[in-house]
Amino acid sequence: MRTHFALFAAGLAATGMTVLLVAASAGAAQPDPAAGKVESVICATCHGSDGISVATDVPNLAGQHYEYLVQQLIAFKGGTRRSGVMNEMVRPMSLAQLRNVAAYYSTVPITVSATKAKN
Ligand code: HEC
Repeated sequence: MRTHFALFAAGLAATGMTVLLVAASAGAAQPDPAAGKVESVICATCHGSDGISVATDVPNLAGQHYEYLVQQLIAFKGGTRRSGVMNEMVRPMSLAQLRNVAAYYSTVPITVSATKAKN
């Protein structure tokens, strides 16, 4: 994970995200999935209370990798990933809150079944 963050930091350093990323890679306090569940109430409108989204144009978050979720949330916050909705959603959130919600969604257990033909 550290290497991954280092690569990520290198990629984003040019965009002025250095301070946020230093905090991300410096091993801040462990993320808290229980706190993240509480903080994710505002996300549930679209992503569902358990991370299974309520609409087909909103991605599921349940069971997604923690590192991936944190990276996307940091990218939304820094504006390197653009989404009108998501850029606004994460604007008021701290890095600790982003890590907490990522921890919550990543720990929602999911089951994947054998592929079914759709047509
Ligand atoms: C109003 C609806 C809405 C709300 C509320 C919302 N999201 Fe999203 N979210 C979206 C949409 C739509 C996308 C797809 C964005 C895109 O097109 O890149 C998305 C994308 C994401 C992604 C990227 C998923 C991926 O597979 O790359 C993450 C992570 C995420 N949201 C987390 C959150 C969190 C955490 C919250 C609450 C703080 C939240 N969202 C609130 C609509 C919403």
